Amino acid sequence: MMKVAVLKETCPTEQRVALVPANVPQLAKAGIEVVVEGGAGEAAGFLDAQYVEKGAKIVARDELFSADIIAQVRTLGANKDSGRDDLGKFRNGQIVVGMCDPLGEPGSAVEIGETGASLFALEMIPRITRAQSMDVLSSMATIAGYRAVLLAAIELPKIFPMLMTAAGTLTPARVFIVGVGVAGLQAIATAKRLGGVVHAYDVRPACREQVESLGGKFVELELQAGEAEDKGGYAKAMGEEFYRKQRELMASVVAESDVVITTAAIPGKQSPLLITADAVKGMAPGGVIVDLATERGGNCELSQADTRVVEHGVTILGPTNLPSEIPNHASQMYSNNVTKFLLNLIKDGNVELNLEDEIIRDTLVAHEGQLLNARMRDILGMEPLPVPEPMPEPEETDSPSQDAEANSTDTDVDDDSGEKAKEADE
Ligand code: NAI
Repeated sequence: MMKVAVLKETCPTEQRVALVPANVPQLAKAGIEVVVEGGAGEAAGFLDAQYVEKGAKIVARDELFSADIIAQVRTLGANKDSGRDDLGKFRNGQIVVGMCDPLGEPGSAVEIGETGASLFALEMIPRITRAQSMDVLSSMATIAGYRAVLLAAIELPKIFPMLMTAAGTLTPARVFIVGVGVAGLQAIATAKRLGGVVHAYDVRPACREQVESLGGKFVELELQAGEAEDKGGYAKAMGEEFYRKQRELMASVVAESDVVITTAAIPGKQSPLLITADAVKGMAPGGVIVDLATERGGNCELSQADTRVVEHGVTILGPTNLPSEIPNHASQMYSNNVTKFLLNLIKDGNVELNLEDEIIRDTLVAHEGQLLNARMRDILGMEPLPVPEPMPEPEETDSPSQDAEANSTDTDVDDDSGEKAKEADE
């Protein structure tokens, strides 16, 4: 049987666990045995006895490294403090599956690759329909969007809903969400549930419908975003002139808001600066900003990682690991994603590195001592790898099946954004 080892996370702030007991039987059915480090799930509320009850074995940490596959939440790269301690324990031919901040810390993947282990970076799961059930970034952003609103609600010296009482009428909190991806949609849904009046803005015009379907109001800015979305459904970086104008136009919306939640992100790039210190000054005292993009530089000029900043009477929070603050459900989602990923990777009890499969090809970033991912190589200034010899041309190049494939890729992306709204709605 293939053996998957679940390590206790070593990053000091990390409370999640890579696999939860409920997924153990599913993996066993596919010929995958799960071995778990004692106490690995404790911080998330999953006890050793629950793993054992579902058929997993509790094993000492050092023994776990003999497993075929190591499953982690944060592997080196996403665990700068302690991730290096495991480096010497990975071995040739082993598979490591986890989040490793591939575009932020690509050098870490090189280091893991040098041990001879193959590294699957779960952040690189493509945003296509077939991979939705494995998309850890979406899962974790859902949790973060929810939690961000709760943090803001606690900080705000007002309540969210409108109340008409014998002691007078309280007006509802005005909440502005910047960036309507997965985290933003969940933030809108959560702020609405709490009774806030929600406005939202995104450079991707397709978001308008999703914002409205959740009961939010889409903010119109006189900005020409043009082609704001890339093929993978993510936002493209815009020019500095665009951001300057956006900052200017958004300042008045920020000034009218009690709460601002920012989630604007460009994969692999610094987050755009969208709220200046001056714009913060424009808010009424007591206002709250939660900047979910702080880890990548932040959307607000004043945010600092994991620090509560108060300027001009406005509280600015820059939390970098909100999913870990809801470790039970975050682990459940992450574990479901990892399980689906492993079931796609392991066929008839064996790992099948089928590079024709977009999911496997995109996530396998280091293999046989080499960094495979072109984007990561580019960031590190490494030469591109030679392109493999093309397959011989089929006789009819424009066959209906190829057309169908091309079309289905487009549909995948569209379907996906629709699904995101649906998930947030539910
Ligand atoms: P996403 O890619 O689904 O959404 C980001 C959204 O920002 C996209 O809709 C994009 O169009 C939009 N955007 C980009 N530039 C913009 C601009 N100039 N103005 C307005 N909107 C703009 O990303 P997701 O998954 O929702 O994550 C959002 C952010 O939250 C990321 O920075 C991610 O790293 C962060 N995050 C933070 C966590 C934490 O604990 N702090 C946990 C999980 C995610």
